[in-house]
Amino acid sequence: MLLLLISLFFVAPLVAVVALLWSEGIMLPFEKKKAEYPPFMPSIKYPNQIAGWIETIVALIGTRAPFVVYEGMKKLPQGYPWIVTGKFPNKSPSGCGYAVADVHIAKEILTSPHSRKSVMYDGVDFLTCGFQNIFTANGHRWRHARKFVAPAFSSNHIKRMNRICAEHLEHFINTTLDKYAEEGKAFDVSEEMVTLTLAIISEAAFEYPMSRKEMREFTHNLEVAAKTFVIMNPLHQKFPWLFPAVWRARHAAKNLQALAYRMMDNYRAVHKDKKEHEFRDDTIISRIVNNPNYTCDDERAADIAIFMAAGHDTTAYSISWSLIEIFRTRPAELTEFRNKIAEMPDRDDWRRVTELQYMIKEAMRVYPALAMGTVRDVGVEITYQHGKEKVVLPKDSIYFINLFPMFRNPEYYDDPDEYRPSRWANPKTEEAHIPFSIGSRNCIGQTLANAELSTVLSVLCARYDFELVQEGYPEFFSTLTPCKYMMKPTKLF
Ligand SMILES: *[C@@H]1O[C@H](CO)[C@@H](O)[C@H](O)[C@H]1NC(C)=O
Ligand SMILES: *[C@@H]1O[C@H](CO)[C@@H](O)[C@H](O)[C@H]1NC(C)=O
Repeated sequence: MLLLLISLFFVAPLVAVVALLWSEGIMLPFEKKKAEYPPFMPSIKYPNQIAGWIETIVALIGTRAPFVVYEGMKKLPQGYPWIVTGKFPNKSPSGCGYAVADVHIAKEILTSPHSRKSVMYDGVDFLTCGFQNIFTANGHRWRHARKFVAPAFSSNHIKRMNRICAEHLEHFINTTLDKYAEEGKAFDVSEEMVTLTLAIISEAAFEYPMSRKEMREFTHNLEVAAKTFVIMNPLHQKFPWLFPAVWRARHAAKNLQALAYRMMDNYRAVHKDKKEHEFRDDTIISRIVNNPNYTCDDERAADIAIFMAAGHDTTAYSISWSLIEIFRTRPAELTEFRNKIAEMPDRDDWRRVTELQYMIKEAMRVYPALAMGTVRDVGVEITYQHGKEKVVLPKDSIYFINLFPMFRNPEYYDDPDEYRPSRWANPKTEEAHIPFSIGSRNCIGQTLANAELSTVLSVLCARYDFELVQEGYPEFFSTLTPCKYMMKPTKLF
């Protein structure tokens, strides 16, 4: 009896304390990795320690995630490639997870035939009401959807995309921007840009005129559903009926699905009387509705919803970060761009000016919208030689390809934290700049994204001046959001 009491009162807490210390990496001698495996992520909180479970999980999914991982990478020994082992419980067979900010290792992973979308994304299927979507699926389901939809983004259609971007931009200028300019008021940059990109993608990709009300509902539903489903709490996954957050998220996902159905209905109604050869084949909606390889409309709705989700805020934030950085720092390239376009009567030529492209590229480097990149599982062992360092990565592990620290890796960029468009005139390397990722699963929508970025920013930089009247803050949740940056526009002509 006494023994039992002793064990209850003394041993149990002792075990708990040791377990906590060990899990937090404070009692290092218990666990040393083999020399060739990447080191554990260094702790930011405790000098000379490794980051434990809690710190690692916060580092990977917290609102400051990109910055935390970047700080961790900076603590790696000089000359070692930017890759660390993350200590967190996960479902991969090896139980190992890695954060990767070295572009060569990232390329090995992204282009490996043994690489798959990660089990980490399992929750994302709930976002599309339990149906797999083009973002999460592997194998045939992914292949037929991707192959069939790809022509919608071919550069043949770039003229149409640019025209739609220009029209919606003009509408935004007439109804919103000029009012702010006349009244001398500031606006929230990312909020306005989200509305603009939603209007563009719903027409360019889905031939659907989205109302303001639908846009508000869409962003709200997406936020509610994504919060619960993008990186899913294991308890939520096991006992979904227990948690009101999951009920709310499911309801929100149903609303997203309903929008996708309205888009399909609208498309079918408009094209009802057309013969097959008259169908337009250059929009995502046409490629999805007319693809016979989907087994049902629920699968189609899943792909439509995921395209809407992935296709608007990433672009909106890239435009926003560009505006913020350009008008905060006023680089020489802005003046140069304005001088050049003064001689260009045709606005369509503005977007191709080199200085504009440098300014955009540099904003997407310092603030990549997809800051934590993408997650992959790789079924084979990877060995990589980096100078003198040999790196071995065990098979069946999870890889977080983290773009934010990669784009600030001093191996590729001098003064990496500085917004300096001129670096692209004579770059140290081009290969580390992969904002749309690479490999067969890179960003399928990059032609549309580039059309939006260059059309919107060329006109705004040419015809308006912006004053950053309120400094906001970056917040990470699946994308790197510029929150509460307020800008006051002045019309130049
Ligand atoms: C649809 O599936 C059939 C049979 O599996 C295949 O032959 C065809 O190529 C697929 N179409 C697309 C676009 O993948
Ligand atoms: C914007 O305003 C201009 C000038 O008032 C007008 O010519 C143009 O048609 C308007 N465009 C849109 C899309 O509202």
